[in-house]
Parts: sequence; C-alpha cells; structure tokens
Amino acid sequence: RTVFLSDYQPFTHLVEQVALTFRLSPGATRVTARLSLAPNPARAGRQDLRLDGEGLTLLSLRLNGAPLALTPDETGLTIPAGLLPDAPFTVETEVEIAPEANTALEGLYMSRGMYCTQCEAEGFRKITFYPDRPDVMARFRVRIESDLPVLLSNGNPAGQGPGWAEWDDPWPKPAYLFALVAGDLVAHSAPFTTASGMPVALNIWVRPGDQDRCAYAMDSLIRSMRWDEQVYGREYDLSVFNIVAVDDFNMGAMENKGLNIFNSKFVLASPETATDDDFGRIEAIIAHEYFHNWTGNRITCRDWFQLCLKEGLTVFRDQQFTGDMRSHAVKRIEDVLLLRARQFREDGGPLAHPVRPDSFVEINNFYTATVYEKGAEVIGMLRRLVGDADYARALDLYFTRHDGDAATIEDWLKVFEDVTGRDLAQFKRWYTEAGTPVVKVTEDWDGATYSLTLSQTNPPTPGQPEKAPKLIPVALGLLNPNGDEILPTTVLELAEPTQTFRFKTATRPVPSILRGFSAPVVLERQVTPEERAFLLAHDTDPFNKWEAGRALAKDVLARMVTEGASPGPDWLDALARVAFDETLDPAFRALALRLPAEDDMAATLHAAGIAPDPARIWAERRRMAEAVARHLAPRLPALIDSLAEPGPFTPDARAAGRRALRLAALSLLSRVDGGTAAAAAHAGADNMTEEIGSLACLLDIGQGAAELARFEGRWSHDRNVMDKWFALQIAYAAPDLAARVTTALTAHPAFDWKNPNRFRAVIGALSANHGGFHHASGAGYRLVADWLLRLDPLNPQTAARMSTAFETWPRYDTARRALVQGELARMAGTAGLSRDLAEMVARMRSAG
Ligand code: ARG
Ligand code: ZN
Repeated sequence: RTVFLSDYQPFTHLVEQVALTFRLSPGATRVTARLSLAPNPARAGRQDLRLDGEGLTLLSLRLNGAPLALTPDETGLTIPAGLLPDAPFTVETEVEIAPEANTALEGLYMSRGMYCTQCEAEGFRKITFYPDRPDVMARFRVRIESDLPVLLSNGNPAGQGPGWAEWDDPWPKPAYLFALVAGDLVAHSAPFTTASGMPVALNIWVRPGDQDRCAYAMDSLIRSMRWDEQVYGREYDLSVFNIVAVDDFNMGAMENKGLNIFNSKFVLASPETATDDDFGRIEAIIAHEYFHNWTGNRITCRDWFQLCLKEGLTVFRDQQFTGDMRSHAVKRIEDVLLLRARQFREDGGPLAHPVRPDSFVEINNFYTATVYEKGAEVIGMLRRLVGDADYARALDLYFTRHDGDAATIEDWLKVFEDVTGRDLAQFKRWYTEAGTPVVKVTEDWDGATYSLTLSQTNPPTPGQPEKAPKLIPVALGLLNPNGDEILPTTVLELAEPTQTFRFKTATRPVPSILRGFSAPVVLERQVTPEERAFLLAHDTDPFNKWEAGRALAKDVLARMVTEGASPGPDWLDALARVAFDETLDPAFRALALRLPAEDDMAATLHAAGIAPDPARIWAERRRMAEAVARHLAPRLPALIDSLAEPGPFTPDARAAGRRALRLAALSLLSRVDGGTAAAAAHAGADNMTEEIGSLACLLDIGQGAAELARFEGRWSHDRNVMDKWFALQIAYAAPDLAARVTTALTAHPAFDWKNPNRFRAVIGALSANHGGFHHASGAGYRLVADWLLRLDPLNPQTAARMSTAFETWPRYDTARRALVQGELARMAGTAGLSRDLAEMVARMRSAG
C-alpha cells in the first residue's frame, strides 16, 4: 500500500495525556496504556478512532473505564464513532509483547540482556495501540517495573523505588520520540548549567566496564550544548539528559526526548580502540542527536514526508558545529566527498527521489542520503542566498513561531519569505524534484569584459520526466593570471535555463566556479590541465583548490582506464607540491593525496557514455598509486618522521590531521619499501588509528597475515574493534578474492550476522568493494543477495537499506546488468519478502 503526501488529513482526535506502565519480562512484557483523548475540532463530525498496533496481543480494552469487546486487525484497532462520546474520553489497553523475540530491532527489543526501544519512524505501534503519527503530540508519563537496576524513559525522573521507576515528560511529543531502557548499566556523568542557569545532569549509560570509554562523547555533548546556545540561542529544557549505548542498533543513533539511544560504536572511544574517524563521527553524531532537541523534537514533522524538515536542518547544524570545532575547509571537502559518493549515486539511479518525497510504501526506506545530505545542502543554499544575518533572523522566527508544532516544508520556507520578502517558489523545487542538475559553463573575454554563461539541465528521474529550471546559487571568484584575486567570492543566482554574467576586466581571468560547492550540481566545463594546476596552486577558496586537484586526478585516471595512458610528470609534480607544502593543513594535504574512488570513477565513465570495467578501474587505480608512490618516494620517510606526534594521543583535529597525512604517506611508501615502514609502525602503534592504518597499508600490498592474526588475538573481546578487523580484510581483498574472503569470514565463529554492525562490517564491506562486488563472475552480487534474503525475515530494515548496493546497475555492461537483474528478480520472487525489501527491489528493477 502506497501512502501519498496529498492524502494528508489531521488526525481525528487529540491525545492530551498518555500514561504507560511496563511490566518488563523478556518473553511476556505487559504494557498498559491510558490515553486521554478528545475529538479534534479540526475534523468535522463524529469520527472512528483508529489506533495503530502491530504484533500486539490485546488483553483488555476499556472505554471510559468500561470494557469493550473489539478485535484488532493486522495493523490496528478501530473504535467505531458510534461508541465514542462527543467529549473528552479515555481509552485503556493492556497488551503483551515479547521483546526477546524482536529481531527487527524496532519497537521494544533486547540487546544482550538489556531492554531498549527504537520507535522512529513507526515502531511505537509495536509497543501499544496508539495513533502512531508525528502530528499527534501528547504528554507522556511512564512507569517501568523491573528488577533491573537502571530504568529510564523520557523527560524528568518522577520517583523510583525497589523494582520500579517513573518518568514524566512535560513536553508534548509524538510517539516516535518515546524511549525506554532497562538494564544493568553504569553512568559516566557530568553536570551542566544552561546559559540561563538551569542545572542539567548529563549521563552516558553503558555496560559495566565501558564507563572509561565515555569521556570523549561527554565532552562532545557539553560542547554541543554550549554551541547550540551560542550559535542558535537554543537551551536544553529538562533536568536530565541521558544517553545510552546499545550494541544492536539498526542506525547510528536516535534523538528520543531526553533519552538519546546510540549505536555503541558512536559512543565508546579510547585511543586504543577508536580511530580518528571514529572520534570525529562520535562528535558529529552526539551533536546531531542533541541538536534534534530543537530541530525535530520541540519542532517536529507534520508527517513523514516532511522528514527532511528535521533531518536536513539537523545535519546542516551538525556540519556547522564540526566546522567550528575542527576545520571548515576540511569538513566541507569531506561532506562533498560523501554527498557525491552516496547522494549523487542515489540521485542518478533507480532509487532517485525528491528531498521531500510525495509517496512511499515503507518510510524506513526514505532515511536516505537525499533526505539527509541533500536536505542539508538545500539549507546551505538557502543560507547563501539570503545571507548569514537573514538566515539567523529566519531561524529565530522559525523557533518562536513553530515551537510545539508539527510543521511542514511550507512553514519552513515561509519564515524565510517573511524575513526577507523573497518569493521562494522556484527555490522550493529543490525539495520537490529529484535529480542532480548539470550546469554547463562557457566563457568569453573580449579584451574588456569577461562573460560567463551558465546553462542548467535537470535530468529526468523516476516519475519525473520533465523539470523546470531551479534557482542555483553559484559562488564565483575570479583570479588574475598572476594569482591575485580580482573578484572575491560572489553569489550568482542562476534561475533561467541559460544566463550570462558579465565582469569588466582588462585581463582574461581564471574563474573559480562553485566555490565551497555552493550547490549540489555537476559542473561541466572544458578546462585545460594547466588551468586546473593553476587553481590547485593559487585558488583562495580551499574547497575549489582541492577540487582542482581532484579533477586533475580524475582526468588522469580516466585516461589511464580508457587509453592506457600513464600519469604524467605535470600532475605528479602538482600533487607533490601540495603533499609537501608545509603552509597547508596536513588534513587538507591528506585529502589531496586520496585518489578518486573506484565507484566515483565508474560513475564518471558512465556519465561520459562509457560502460565502466570494474576490474580495469581497480588495476589502473593501483597503477596510479604506484606511480605516485615512486614519484614521492625519496621524500616520504622524512615526511613520515616529521609528522610523528610526541607525547600521549590526543583526538583533536590538529593531531588527527597529522596522523591522516602520516598514514597517507605510509601507504605510498609501502608500495616501494615492501612494507618495512608499515610493519614497524604497526608494531610500535599505541593508538587504533595507527594500529589499523598501518595494517591496512600491509594488506594493500598483500602482506599483514601475521599482524591480522595478532590483532584478532588482542581484540577478540571487543565487538566494535572486531568489526574493523572483519571489514578491513574485505575492503582490501582484490576483486578476484573478495567474495571468497567474505565467504570465509561468514564462517568465522564471531560472525554474528544478527548483529547489524557485524553484518554491515562483512556484507556491507563486500558491497563497498567495487571490484569485488561487481566481479564479472557475479559471485559478489550473488553473495550479497543471499545474505540479504537471509537477513530480511529477521531484520527487514537493515536488509532493505543494504540492498542499495544494487542501485548502480544501469551504469554497467549488459552482462553485469543481466546478473544484477537476475538477483533482483530472485529477491522479488522470494515468498514472504518484507514490505521494506520488496519496495526497494521493485524500485530498483523498474528503472531499466
Ligand atoms: N532520527 C534518527 C537520526 O537521524 C534516525 C533514526 C532513523 N531510524 C529509522 N528506523 N528509520 O538521528
Ligand atoms: Zn537525525
């Protein structure tokens, strides 16, 4: 059944108050719910009351205290209008559920002896009968009965005793923000005082033994809270803020009011167990979930079509935060790498959908790079168009006007219209139309005037064959041939299919277009390698400086793949200049040394009308790395030595950037020294970044067997570290071996495939091994499909999400297309396929 945005109607009733009691038991938890309801004046006439409920055993039902004999159907329970008074009333239900049998990890489930919940998007209906939709906001009071020592829910503590605890949440909220946790947990705690002087107890709850790995998450939380006060004027609003780490979790984390629940890999960190990337992700995700308290919780979404209202904005906010904490330039480059790798890929394939979709079968399938990352890009464009000051005024208006609301994208755009007086109707197409626009650039200089002509095309996407032009902010700078900037960054507004912008200048300038990646578009322009090298050396915009180097590298690799060319000295020298430029941030230099990804190369070749050959891309990319290694080799040992960090490990951006460059250099050196330096670095590593980074260097050159075995022996007790061990071997397996290595690892006793992190570490790693997954034999496709089919009956959400591995099939040759179509057909034909996976497979099959 498909749900449409255009079918929205307010709910028939208002829920004023909810009182829940949980009597916890692994196989038979009793949940009683007392709902205080009233007819919704927004809906005329007497209406049936429809409560969602799935997999619940109904034990009793009362209306205003009197028993009712009604039988639920598969998806809920209807109390006919004729039985309901035209005045406030109460409905009480008691149901039984079995958290220990809940393998979908949605609703109330168990993770290694502890109870936890995941209700977004529609998991609350697996806990009790309720109008499970975000525009129904109610006050929740919760009582938990259990012998477990720690019993948590949303809001403020409201009493506890032996075997019970009560919680009261004063803020009306939708059911998707409900949470409950019960377990044998210990807290890492810290006090916080809000800007206006309200004390808040901060707790991070973990299993006994893990409490010494919470310091970085706590520090990140405190910095996030302070930042939201200082930058957005938003304070926290309860007396406690609890975070719980769980090992079995479908996603990264969840912003439940006052009780965030996290995948443990995004909380637990110590220098010995977490890499710099882990520290960075912990900081970003802690911030993201905290920021949801205002953008998501205080102001929530009217319906799930508006998901980007909270997710796009919250991603945008966490990106700003990370930029402020670390480096805006490095953060922007990393975000664009991710956007291109995941969102452009999605937007260019059969799963393309608008930032605000207008229909869905299973909403969990729309927690996508488009909704999240492109949703954040849209906000970045809006800010660029209105300027920082009006952005701040619009956000203030949004928070005051919509506090307590379940809002829409229309509400969001209206605050910008009201603050700026601009009409944003054309801009709104970014929300409603899928696909990555292509902007073509031509230019002319007549001795006095430089003319820049920009043309946009908006490619067709599933269900959207034709599109009108979008409003595209194009940030532009102009440089003189001597490297001086003659036009500082200026935002051009491309609103028509084609527009020409003119600048008076007596010299022919070099344009730096789309600075900071000011819009999520593909830029097409004929550029000489000399001009790219010039921008790599001279551009004052750090993003475009990096972009110039990236474009050069992609051109070189493309010619290696298509013509058998070899990397020339110009490119190698340009790369060397950046790599050894002491005036540049080491993190930036490390990014500049990163070669284009194989999947990115495949997409680029496809866009140029060439069916990519994955084996060849893999081989040529290695040849490219070897050429770089040989060219830089003489200076690498000194660079590596100069980047050694004296003293104990610190996770800050400066130290992390130095380690990133050091490992990039070590990886190159390994290709010429036979692994000597990497083996030494591995033996001497005192932190996980270097321990696993040096191991990766060894695996990449076909060594490291002994180190892998020692690593396993040393870390077999630590799930999060062992996930890295599994993933690394598959990530570095050559295309011919990847499926075999994966199969061998699925036979490893520690391959607990029901744990989403472990499943992703193994099956996800194969999907991400471009050459291995797309192997001509079809072994990669087959193995991934086999495992998705195995996981689907237990955990449809994760199976569906991971099926996106197949979304790029239209890029490849007919033989591979046929192989993928065969796997998709096999999945589609499997009896009892979940709604989640069925929708994904159907969408991927239909765009041929
Ligand atoms: N709202 C969460 C976040 O962005 C994601 C939870 C999504 N869960 C799901 N089952 N779809 O932080
Ligand atoms: Zn979020």
